[in-house]
Amino acid sequence: MHWLSLLVTLTFASFSFAYPNPIAIYGNTAADDPMLCKDGSGTYFLYSTGPGIEVRTSTDRITWTYAGVVWPDGASWTDPFTNTTNGSLWAPDSLLRGINFRVSKRKSAIFFAKSSTGLPGSFTNEGLVVSTADGDSYNAIDPNLLIGEFKFNLVFLDRLSICHEDGSTWYLSFGSFWTGIKGVPVKPNTGNTTTSTLDSLAQRNGSQAVEASVIYKYGDYYYLFTSWDKCCEGASSTYNVRVGRSKSRSGGFVDADGVALTDGGGTLILASHDGVFGPGGQDLLADSDGIVMVYHYFTSAGTIQYLGINHLDFSNGWPVVV
Ligand SMILES: *[C@@H]1O[C@H](CO)[C@@H](O)[C@H](O)[C@H]1NC(C)=O
Ligand SMILES: *[C@@H]1O[C@H](CO)[C@@H](O)[C@H](O)[C@H]1NC(C)=O
Ligand SMILES: *[C@@H]1O[C@H](CO)[C@@H](O)[C@H](O)[C@H]1NC(C)=O
Ligand SMILES: *[C@@H]1O[C@H](CO)[C@@H](O)[C@H](O)[C@H]1NC(C)=O
Repeated sequence: MHWLSLLVTLTFASFSFAYPNPIAIYGNTAADDPMLCKDGSGTYFLYSTGPGIEVRTSTDRITWTYAGVVWPDGASWTDPFTNTTNGSLWAPDSLLRGINFRVSKRKSAIFFAKSSTGLPGSFTNEGLVVSTADGDSYNAIDPNLLIGEFKFNLVFLDRLSICHEDGSTWYLSFGSFWTGIKGVPVKPNTGNTTTSTLDSLAQRNGSQAVEASVIYKYGDYYYLFTSWDKCCEGASSTYNVRVGRSKSRSGGFVDADGVALTDGGGTLILASHDGVFGPGGQDLLADSDGIVMVYHYFTSAGTIQYLGINHLDFSNGWPVVV
């Protein structure tokens, strides 16, 4: 009996579960392009794409309470980029972008906002960081801010928390199709760029989709996570999470096979499996129980992007979803 059940288990594991399921499957929480943050009192903040940017809070990282939107009264400074009056704002990170594909596929912008509480209505607009227009070979979307050596998700000034760190060096990565993921240093606390020269961090062969960059420092390396392929086509979504690493945050990333990320490299760490379709749009947080990755995914219903959470194990030098 035991040998039989063991054989069955191994076969099942080999062929059915290429990746672990998200914690708390199949999520009761909707969150597109989630971004996770935790304050000094242990409250988690989850920000996600939506008009005004949706905010949810949790004390256990499992049960989330909808708190409202970051800008309940709209975000008029983003209107030129969204062509709406209320800010169709996507992919929050430490910075927020406004984009509307009806206006122009490359008319995009990344804005910097600050808050002392992280709660709806508390953020101030600190200005435009980078923008793109038709004719540019990249797109100012999916911002990710790396502060000092670590990745922090949101700048909550005046509040001691792991969401806030005064690092002497801030580095913004962003981008998507065409010439891919770009990086640029920005001034601490102001978000102003210090140079108009952008670093090229990753590019797919054939200018395909490479989005949702996250740079995370672990040990001697900076790890660059990206999402490839189709983000948002319900159960047909093919989003998947890739990674490369470098000893520099501003370039030189290679995948586990040694292929440069600027030359189509990217080691696959999470793709569709079981009832999970198109996982991606990820973000990382160093939490008290280990490093967690949040992402969105569709179920077979294909209507809502749910919040997925897993731990990442970096112990062999390359992150593994566990
Ligand atoms: C803007 O958002 C507010 C709050 O959600 C809503 O009441 C209002 O109808 C929106 N206005 C427009 C023009 O969409
Ligand atoms: C902006 O929105 C208005 C109202 O929906 C529309 O008439 C106009 O064509 C839009 N502009 C662009 C550039 O898409
Ligand atoms: C950058 O500096 C200018 C003033 O030179 C300011 O208006 C703007 O808000 C600053 N912030 C960002 C994020 O660009
Ligand atoms: C991308 O193209 C380069 C050659 O230009 C090749 O070495 C590399 O393996 C390709 N990467 C992928 C992921 O196909």
